[in-house]
Amino acid sequence: MVDNWQYKFSENMKNYGGYSIGKLFSLLTDPEIISLAGGLPSPDIFLKEETRIASKNRLEKDIETIMQYTPIGGESTLIEAIIQFMKREDIEITRENILITSSGQHGLDITGRLFLNPGDIVMIDRPTFAGAIVAFQLQNPGFVGVDIEDDGPNVDGYREKIIALAKTNKKPKFIYVVPDFQNPSGITMSYEKRIALLDLSYEYDIPIIEDSPYRDLRYYGESIPSLLYLDQQRKGNNVIGLFTFSKLFCPGMRVGYNIGAPEVIQKMTNIKEGNVLNTPKYNQDLCTAFLTEMNFNSHIEKCIKYYRKKLEVFMDTMEECFPEETGVSWTKPEGGLFLWVTVPEHIDTKELFYEAIKFKVAFVPGEVFYGENPSKNHMRINFSYATEAQLAEAVKRLSACIKDQI
Ligand SMILES: Cc1ncc(COP(=O)(O)O)c(C=O)c1O
Repeated sequence: MVDNWQYKFSENMKNYGGYSIGKLFSLLTDPEIISLAGGLPSPDIFLKEETRIASKNRLEKDIETIMQYTPIGGESTLIEAIIQFMKREDIEITRENILITSSGQHGLDITGRLFLNPGDIVMIDRPTFAGAIVAFQLQNPGFVGVDIEDDGPNVDGYREKIIALAKTNKKPKFIYVVPDFQNPSGITMSYEKRIALLDLSYEYDIPIIEDSPYRDLRYYGESIPSLLYLDQQRKGNNVIGLFTFSKLFCPGMRVGYNIGAPEVIQKMTNIKEGNVLNTPKYNQDLCTAFLTEMNFNSHIEKCIKYYRKKLEVFMDTMEECFPEETGVSWTKPEGGLFLWVTVPEHIDTKELFYEAIKFKVAFVPGEVFYGENPSKNHMRINFSYATEAQLAEAVKRLSACIKDQI
């Protein structure tokens, strides 16, 4: 009999705690709590009838292949649909540039496995997507973070860190960014910073991982070219793009795709062979239907209108409830599903989380979005899932809870 499993675990996994947000979510069982914690798209915008029809057609026509093992790299029909889909952003790719993944999280996992040895350095924003941190942590890297600015990563700060690392013979394996409506901050990287980040990547020969689940969900302002596009225009091959169907279609499908240089995609496909084999064909086929049969443009327009209204309600109530003297500030995202609230420095939002539950409102404490040396006085707010009335009520509850602490 094994009497201590701890000794059996691999060095990498012994101290691995997984997604700490999950543990907090398990505390949100009271139905009266309004949760602004998750990252869920609203089921109101799910294309339910269209998906029922597409599903019925697929099952009628293709049940045998749906029930079978299918190609590891992905279904040709989906790959072809993605190639066409990327053209709307003037991105030219071929099949060799795409791997279908079992969601964005899987794309991150594969990326970490491909590039990271234990102790390797990943450069990230402070804060950045917690799911990326936990995916990369599976390989036990070190994180070097630089505080994000209102217009995206502090590229000069990245440069300084790269130069400092070089003095100890280290170089980041890659830079991970979410340029559009970043999770958790809602911040978008300016055009100038995209160019500067690419310059940095070329100068120091460091790949960029561009994670892009929210790009199409822009509620205000003009779209800014993606890093993937800009890299192609400059004849580079430094950017690897990670995409997912989770936020535009639905997370339940667990389908995404990675785009990169053929050598990278080939290796990523080998890794997928060793972990999930193929992504379910049925799920991929429904994603193909989403891109080709469900009127993508009008769906996105509907999502934009729907989420923009929620964001407006949230912002207006924040203005009412948190006048300047409260010392509470927040980002003003132009799209996506999240924003970032900063409270006075003496408030630890992890402790505030437990207080907020008593006021029947929940958020994610900001500390989970740091690779090292977490900042404690922030919270991530999701505004896509709760109803408009709930959003307004949640802000009032938050304000009552925070005012107690100021
Ligand atoms: C920046 C970012 N990347 C990746 C993901 C993972 O998405 P999924 O695994 O649902 O496709 C998310 C989900 O919230 C995200 O915000």
